Amino acid sequence: MTSTDDLLRWVKEALSAIAEANDLDELKVERIAHFGDKSPIALASRALGALPAGERAAAGKLIGDAKSSVAEAIAQRTTILEAERDARTLLEEVVDISLPSDRVRLGALHPLTILRNEINDFFIAQGYGVAEGPELESEWLNFDALNMPADHPARSMQDTFFIEPAQAHLVLRTHTSPVQIRTMLESEPPIYVICPGRTFRADELDATHTPVFHQVEGLVVDRGISMAHLKGTLDLFAQKMFGDEVTTRLRPSYFPFTEPSAEVDVFFNGRWIEWGGCGMVNPKVLIASGIDPSKYSGFAFGMGLERTLMVRHGITDMHDIVEGDIRFSRAFGVDI
Ligand code: PHE
Repeated sequence: MTSTDDLLRWVKEALSAIAEANDLDELKVERIAHFGDKSPIALASRALGALPAGERAAAGKLIGDAKSSVAEAIAQRTTILEAERDARTLLEEVVDISLPSDRVRLGALHPLTILRNEINDFFIAQGYGVAEGPELESEWLNFDALNMPADHPARSMQDTFFIEPAQAHLVLRTHTSPVQIRTMLESEPPIYVICPGRTFRADELDATHTPVFHQVEGLVVDRGISMAHLKGTLDLFAQKMFGDEVTTRLRPSYFPFTEPSAEVDVFFNGRWIEWGGCGMVNPKVLIASGIDPSKYSGFAFGMGLERTLMVRHGITDMHDIVEGDIRFSRAFGVDI
């Protein structure tokens, strides 16, 4: 049976353990050890019933006193530790309302959009207008008016997305050249416009192709326009895009809507790179657009924006341009 000495020792041990508990978690551990169901005091209390009736009252009082002193110590320590915890929480969770708030991230323009704006600014500064046309275009404007009748082999050069129903004769424009026609139909020379815009061809997305891409078209129609004007314009444009030291060269080529036609290459980073197509507006196209070729002549050019960006920045994979990973944009110095 428990002796009075045992009981006093347990109480002493319990009181010192409780006093040494540093926080509520530690106190809980000590409470279970010294006051829980399996603590010596609880076991002694439970053993009371086995005592002879004459001893039970005295022993019961001793154990009761021991229990209440431990219970009181626990209650007092709990009050102290709770107060400490609350004071700490107030300090740790203090909100400094004088701090500047988090910046709201507004996003940033895609590098392709920045390039488009740069091109627009460059041509606007020379007196050009910026013309736009629909992405869903009539087959006639996308092909026929550009001297590509239905049976023209050049029509199959561009893998076209045709739109149902076929009788509607609508396509997703394969190039920005139909905007040349729209502009010439709507206005009188002198015409100086560029048309940046989204274009579509049935290509798989891979390192160098994307079914949705962008071109910028240039069109000038005025009196006495020659290929020298075209070459001078392309040189300035190329210098704006790739640096003052670059030169361009024209390589004979074929487009139904220009005559003569050329591919324009730029000499950049030590080699010739194919940049776009160009030529003198075919008189047939001028006539189809209501312009008298005996009075006026014109030039046109068209290049891909993705290609321009890739060449200029050494981008080797088209996926980087189309996937919208902001790390790609960040590499261009934009603040997102
Ligand atoms: N539209 C042509 C293409 O996409 C490019 C071009 C534009 C060529 C203007 C000549 C003049 O292939």
